[in-house]
Amino acid sequence: MTADRDSSQENGGGSGLPSGAGETHGVGRTNRDDEPNQTGMSRRGFLKTVGLGTAAVATVAGTSAPAAEPAVAITPEEMAKITLVVNDRQRRLLVEPRWSLLFVLREKLGLNAAKEGCERGECGACTVLIDEQPRYACLTLAVEAEGHRITTLEGLMQGEELGDVQHAFAEHDGLQCGFCTPGQIVAAEGLLRANAAVTLDEIRTGLSGNLCRCGAYPNIFRAVEHAAQRRQTGGKS
Ligand code: FES
Ligand code: FES
Repeated sequence: MTADRDSSQENGGGSGLPSGAGETHGVGRTNRDDEPNQTGMSRRGFLKTVGLGTAAVATVAGTSAPAAEPAVAITPEEMAKITLVVNDRQRRLLVEPRWSLLFVLREKLGLNAAKEGCERGECGACTVLIDEQPRYACLTLAVEAEGHRITTLEGLMQGEELGDVQHAFAEHDGLQCGFCTPGQIVAAEGLLRANAAVTLDEIRTGLSGNLCRCGAYPNIFRAVEHAAQRRQTGGKS
């Protein structure tokens, strides 16, 4: 199971985005949230554990209880051996079960196009494709991603050339500071792989899980529309 991009709703959602926010990508959460993964922990259980940890910290802070015990170092036996398929390449890794896919991509594989933004499923800066679906890498455990095909922005390059969606963003100035851009492009790629004949409304909804603090939405949507037209006409528009 991998983290769904509409999980921002579960986390309070605060997207502040145009209409369609929260309907993200039509890849709805399922009751698989309760299914255990390879680590024996369900996603819901994982989030509850994190929540409990936060509450415990708050309690300690509020009551001047004894200082928290030092973090327990994980032993080599507790590390998990996994193989990830990233951008069509197999990568064998030793990971801690708690590591997110985003952390592993950036810190262990040196693929740093996916950005660390909110790290809680609200901004979309970390978006990658998992089995062609846009997903938040910050909410996906690396161990959960084993057995799935992962595509990052780096994997959208055509050799040394930009991919068509990247090219359209450059043509239409679909960025200002550029921080959200990798996530926007990967989300758009997922959208167009599912259906290149998208409407403007579908583009707005499809990208509603990706925040742009610079407000470059009009140019972003124009770029995706143009990339979609090109795919439909075999690159002739
Ligand atoms: S949604 Fe993953 S960093 Fe914001
Ligand atoms: S271009 Fe700056 S956040 Fe989107």
